[in-house]
Amino acid sequence: MPKKLALITGSSGGIGAAIAAAASRDGYRLALLDVNAAALQATSASLPDATAFTCDITDAAQVAQVLQTLGQVPELLVNNAGIVKFAPLLDITVQDFRRILDIDLTGAFVVSQQVASGLRDAGKPGSIVNIASIGGITPSFGTNAYAAAKAGLIKLTELMALEWGALGIRVNTVSPGFIDGGMSAAVYANASTRAVRTAAVPLKRLGLEQDIADAVLFLASEKANYISGHNLVVDGALTHSLLNQIPRE
Ligand SMILES: NC(=O)c1ccc[n+]([C@@H]2O[C@H](COP(=O)([O-])OP(=O)(O)OC[C@H]3O[C@@H](n4cnc5c(N)ncnc54)[C@H](O)[C@@H]3O)[C@@H](O)[C@H]2O)c1
Repeated sequence: MPKKLALITGSSGGIGAAIAAAASRDGYRLALLDVNAAALQATSASLPDATAFTCDITDAAQVAQVLQTLGQVPELLVNNAGIVKFAPLLDITVQDFRRILDIDLTGAFVVSQQVASGLRDAGKPGSIVNIASIGGITPSFGTNAYAAAKAGLIKLTELMALEWGALGIRVNTVSPGFIDGGMSAAVYANASTRAVRTAAVPLKRLGLEQDIADAVLFLASEKANYISGHNLVVDGALTHSLLNQIPRE
């Protein structure tokens, strides 16, 4: 029985690399995509059965080339690539706003559409997991197009689950909370930010990249066979804590 194939975008480091390592442990062959060629090569070389593709997910032709080279439709797609640029809405440029939407929302659609159509043509079932954010559920200052893109990704996931369910394709979202790594590594390098944010989480710790990888591999597994269109929030209950942060008296 050939190994199943997992295609993971934005997997040169951070959460994507943790997802890749977890998928490898679960027996998948890996196709790793990122725009950061050097980091991608290093991550790919550290994992068995991994092939690295320098690829911009917003470019449909590049994505099509990757799928053609693979010669096998991935049974698991994880749309993890994303960028953030903190700036108030009054200051973010339209160009930056569009670029964030293009990568964080449209890029996930570009890859999903091609993988889903490949699965349909091959008559194979599959699973797609989109990495959103609690920022797509509850906005925070300065997150501009990131908040809009992640909210859009959560809704797009529901629509994909609806339209592709009859093809045997399950589609779910994982929404990470405060994660100690990846694009937030610089944020948590600041000791006071780290302390304040850790204290705000009901579980009293920041999330780990591994926490997100575990959630993704659960949704990809047979244990989640009847779960589709779901947004799995992995945040230590942070998004439920609002009222407790406001004193009663
Ligand atoms: N770290 C956090 O605190 C946190 C919290 C919530 C959600 N997330 C989400 O988790 C995902 C992974 O983020 P991370 O924290 O590991 O950050 P990261 O910056 O380490 O990883 C993102 C990866 O995406 C790649 N990428 C960017 N544009 C691309 C493009 N056009 N095509 C292909 N690859 C591209 C980057 O090169 C990078 O390797 C993102 O979608 C992010 O929004 C992260």
